[in-house]
Amino acid sequence: MTYVRVCPFADVPADGALGTEIEGTPVAIVRSGEDLFALNDICSHAEVSLSEGEIYNGTIECWLHGSCFDLRTGKPTNPPATQPVAIYKVKVEDGDVYVSLGSDD
Ligand code: FES
Repeated sequence: MTYVRVCPFADVPADGALGTEIEGTPVAIVRSGEDLFALNDICSHAEVSLSEGEIYNGTIECWLHGSCFDLRTGKPTNPPATQPVAIYKVKVEDGDVYVSLGSDD
């Protein structure tokens, strides 16, 4: 599993999200309380950035039609989205955020 350095942890807003791109894949880095998550940044309903949405109750809300996605599973918790978004492994090392896009773990 290969982790890629993304950004300083301090760049991710508290209870917010940072949109970025890793090896051509759009990724949202999300802080929710003390927890850090990484998921695909494109809503599964239409192609808008989830990182521009609000974070609450362990979800990120798509700003366009209001579907919320569970930060741990990527699954939508309410319509109109019905498909999950991919989630990725994320860690903090020496103050920097690292993400693995691989599923080979
Ligand atoms: S584009 Fe995200 S819920 Fe419709």
